[in-house]
Amino acid sequence: MAEADLELCLSTALKLAREAGGMIKDAFKKKKNVMLKASPIDLVTETDEAVEKFLFSELRKVFPQHRYIGEESVAAGAKVDFTDAPTWIIDPVDGTMNFVHSFPFTCVSIGLTVNKEPVIGVIYNPILDHMYHARKGHGAFLNDEKITVSGETDLSKSLVIGEMGTSPIPEKRECVFENARILVGKAHGFRSLGSCALNMCLVASGAAELYHEAGIHCWDVAAGAVVVTEAGGVVIDTAGGEFDLLSRRVLCASSPSLGQEVASLLHQYQPPRD
Ligand code: IPD
Repeated sequence: MAEADLELCLSTALKLAREAGGMIKDAFKKKKNVMLKASPIDLVTETDEAVEKFLFSELRKVFPQHRYIGEESVAAGAKVDFTDAPTWIIDPVDGTMNFVHSFPFTCVSIGLTVNKEPVIGVIYNPILDHMYHARKGHGAFLNDEKITVSGETDLSKSLVIGEMGTSPIPEKRECVFENARILVGKAHGFRSLGSCALNMCLVASGAAELYHEAGIHCWDVAAGAVVVTEAGGVVIDTAGGEFDLLSRRVLCASSPSLGQEVASLLHQYQPPRD
């Protein structure tokens, strides 16, 4: 894809993320109409659906030839059609559980892949007014200021993020608790905040050193993968191998050695692919 085209993709995504953020912020303090998807803790609201509809329709006006993958479209039965074509991968509200509870750690996440590689990431938390963006080869930014990972290599000095309670599957829950038990003893601190995309941004901006999770989807990580990589961090599989956007596993870290060390400690869980 030509540089000018990528520049247009980024500027369009930034503008639309801000507008989508306005929709999320407007609904944030109001009573939400909450619906269940795969389980009683897998939630969707009218805002998730409205934001995805808005983003798809606005992006399609500018990029009619591109392809689209969105959390709520897939929940409604669409296939994850992942090809080499430029593909927008969108989570309209990442951290829906937080949004439902008016816990101010929620965002819209917009990623673009070309030849199956994430090249643009825009993640906006409208409650805190934190706009993260990155474009491959051009660095990562928070509210237009350049961000970098901390570079930490020592686990005992690292703040680690691991998500808890996002699955009713007993085998996965056991794995999550076991990994928390391992890491709580070894890391400087441990957090669980409820938004995959923002967790990745925290690692990218040096506010945390590592985040890992099995069970995420491509729309949770497509944008974050660019932000972390462009901030100098590593994005790998939870077992330490190459990151695979559809494998539903992610580990991102402030340094390669920290990433590999934690990957070797983790109990592994493999959900079905996207
Ligand atoms: C969820 C959040 C959560 C993570 C889950 C995701 P959603 O996304 O990112 O932090 O633990 O795996 O599914 O459903 O709020 O868009």
